[in-house]
Amino acid sequence: MRKADYPINSILSKTNNNLSNKSKKNYCRDTIENMKKSEWSVIAQYGRAKSGTIKLDVGEGDVPTPDFIVNAAQNAMNKGDMFYGPVLGSDELRESISSYYQRIHGYKIESSRIFVTPSGTAAIHYSLSTLVDVGDEVVAVTPLWRNLLGAIDLQQGITKEVPLTHEIGKGWKLDMDKLFNSCTEKTKVIIINSPNNPTGWIMPVKDMKILMEYARKHDIWIVSDEVYSRFIYDTHRAPSFLDIAKEDDKLLVVNSFSKNWCMTGWRLGWITGPEKIAEKIYNVALYSAMGVSPFIQQGGIAALEQGENFLKQMRKNSLENREYIYERFKNMDKIISDKPEATFYSFFKIDGVDDCISFTKELIDKKNIIFAPGYAFSKHTKGYMRLCFAVPKHKLETAINRLEEIIKDY
Ligand SMILES: Cc1ncc(COP(=O)(O)O)c(C=O)c1O
Repeated sequence: MRKADYPINSILSKTNNNLSNKSKKNYCRDTIENMKKSEWSVIAQYGRAKSGTIKLDVGEGDVPTPDFIVNAAQNAMNKGDMFYGPVLGSDELRESISSYYQRIHGYKIESSRIFVTPSGTAAIHYSLSTLVDVGDEVVAVTPLWRNLLGAIDLQQGITKEVPLTHEIGKGWKLDMDKLFNSCTEKTKVIIINSPNNPTGWIMPVKDMKILMEYARKHDIWIVSDEVYSRFIYDTHRAPSFLDIAKEDDKLLVVNSFSKNWCMTGWRLGWITGPEKIAEKIYNVALYSAMGVSPFIQQGGIAALEQGENFLKQMRKNSLENREYIYERFKNMDKIISDKPEATFYSFFKIDGVDDCISFTKELIDKKNIIFAPGYAFSKHTKGYMRLCFAVPKHKLETAINRLEEIIKDY
């Protein structure tokens, strides 16, 4: 049939009873339509577009991925390692992560319990997509990196925030009773991020043990984001839920290569969980990204096997920057903050600033610096700001000078 003969008008004029009562739908899924663009992302875009702005709002520094990692990925590409691979990661990388646990944690995690993902962010999505049904409650200890909360929204889960409390001079604390009182029969998952972005809070091992017992008793999953576990300043790694869990506990631990080895753009992470969940996560991974590029995984192996000295150096630089910031903050009486024990963020309050969003805009307009507003991490931290100190010292110095100038007026 030629195109001109196609009876389109007669088809359109017929009534289809199956469709006669169809109401007009939203352009996209209702869940997506209802997701508002955050005020913060609008301001961040505005600030980043301005030339000469010092950007301390994002969780990364300026140091490129070290050569030994880049070379490993390049060699893999040169050898033709660029085809589809196993959905949950190559055996070689999963074994390498297993050995990393043996070296760094001091115990064995079988590679069959390790699932490679295209980033820590994807690890969070895979975990929540596997566990959370529409209407399930997810209890999240906040402030928290916003993408974790966004991942709950995507699953149409219901977020229940349990805010940490800040006691000046004593740091951030979690009230365990508050956490337990937030759980109901509908609670499917509790999300913990320790060391925490943005506060640097570390969950004490005794609380981890209590929470694990509670989760076992009430059949609740724990999703533990341990992406910053190596960015801790007085020891070589933070406590992990894996230290106290049994192999078949309902626990998923999220990790990433981004922060330790300056690999933010590589998009590589992993989940550690019970062996039994492998086939479920497999389906989520299969129908999402269907694996991670094989040459990227070779970069990951190099990072794990040769990356300890590099990581030590990164931690040393961050420690020096942390000390520098807190020396400066000591002399700025309007800044209220506690030194973080981990991560490379300073999360501080400014006396006289209640609306961090408009303060962020003012900092961009008047002083050409961007920090992340506390509101981006929780509705309870509207008076706070977060700055990333994994940057060269001179940048930090200029940013703090400018901050000091502006807060004189508050
Ligand atoms: C707490 C937390 N989890 C996960 C991630 C994600 O890391 P990735 O770069 O691997 O997606 C971030 C990134 O900032 C983070 O802060």
